[in-house]
Amino acid sequence: MVPGFLVIAIDGPAGAGKSTVAQGLARRLGLSYVDSGASYRAAAILALENGIKPDDESAVAQALNRAEIQFSGDGEHPRVWLNGREVTAEIRSPEVTLAASRVARLPAVREKLIALQRSLAASRGVVMEGRDIGTVVFPNASLKIFLDADPRERARRRLAQNRQEDAAATLEQTANEIQWRDQLDAQRKISPLVTAPDAYRIDSTGLTAEQVVERILALAREKKLVNDEVP
Ligand code: DC
Repeated sequence: MVPGFLVIAIDGPAGAGKSTVAQGLARRLGLSYVDSGASYRAAAILALENGIKPDDESAVAQALNRAEIQFSGDGEHPRVWLNGREVTAEIRSPEVTLAASRVARLPAVREKLIALQRSLAASRGVVMEGRDIGTVVFPNASLKIFLDADPRERARRRLAQNRQEDAAATLEQTANEIQWRDQLDAQRKISPLVTAPDAYRIDSTGLTAEQVVERILALAREKKLVNDEVP
């Protein structure tokens, strides 16, 4: 992280609204946007494609050594590439979602992906969303937000978001999946989902993404990270 650059960390559980909020914020502030979860999802595709079990730490880490994960596009249309092939849609499939939770538990995999995430903020300011951005990836982030929402609302949002990839999914299934992933994220030994002591907690239940963005901008102004003229 280059001194002087604005790095905004947005952490929280699945379905809390992180992506929409982080993208909106990046647009308003002219910063780049990175979805760190997409890197775990790309690593999951790599494992699945190479017949590697998503729990096989050394095999997934070795495959990552030879792979290239890239991000492109602006906050409005973020795109993800694995070894030169676009995987933006593929990373959202239910199979990849499950495998991503498993590869995200492997320390050697996290080490590599965290290095990649840090490198993405090396040349300009960024809004990065994930589970451990404020605690591990950028402990010195300019502003840390922990975004949460009521579990039922999170399931509703996730279902709407995933409709295209998984038309058959129900609210009940999505709520169960979210609960299972919350447990994995919170209980894993390395980088569990916890709120950084200096993070601002925002409960987005009943708020629009735009209202959450406004709250974060107000905090950024209060901390003198941006001036009062931000559009
Ligand atoms: O946010 P997401 O659903 O796209 O994340 C995919 C998986 O990666 C999920 O199981 C949580 C994990 N993850 C993580 O462990 N650390 C991050 N910084 C981002 C995501």
